[in-house]
Amino acid sequence: MTTTLQENEPLQIPAQREIIDQIINEQKKRPGAVMVILNELQNKIGFISEPMQAYVAKQLRTSIGSIHGVVTFYSFFTTQPRGKHTIKFCMGTACYVGGIPQLIDKAKQVTGVGLGETTPDRLLTLEACRCVGACSQAPVVTIDDEVIGRVRPNKFPQLVNKLRVNNAH
Ligand code: FES
Repeated sequence: MTTTLQENEPLQIPAQREIIDQIINEQKKRPGAVMVILNELQNKIGFISEPMQAYVAKQLRTSIGSIHGVVTFYSFFTTQPRGKHTIKFCMGTACYVGGIPQLIDKAKQVTGVGLGETTPDRLLTLEACRCVGACSQAPVVTIDDEVIGRVRPNKFPQLVNKLRVNNAH
């Protein structure tokens, strides 16, 4: 099977390819090499694309499935570049009952992307998260490290606009 490499694929960009090779070569003999390598790739490259997963598997002589399994299990690994800001929607019970599904629908309308996706301008990534402990303020979203409660769908566009405006300055 051949994999078609995308234009922004790190393996195709010489400087990034060098970083990837360096991380793999430095770490591959260590115990727990898979986690260490994936962590470093996430930190230094910003995401772990499917071709990168296949490449790591090949270099470590392990199956693509086992690498893919680790990447999909831990939510701090992403397979696409993240946006500058990450908006997370709390999927805990209180927030779910309190209107998160409707808020997610609104977010899709406003941003044009769904959960797990990033806007084409790389400004926003939308994600789901677990209860953040602010249940009395449901429905809750977090924007980067800030917890924002009682977000009604009609308020959501304002939050996004604020990020867009801040980004423009
Ligand atoms: S359920 Fe959303 S903050 Fe607890």
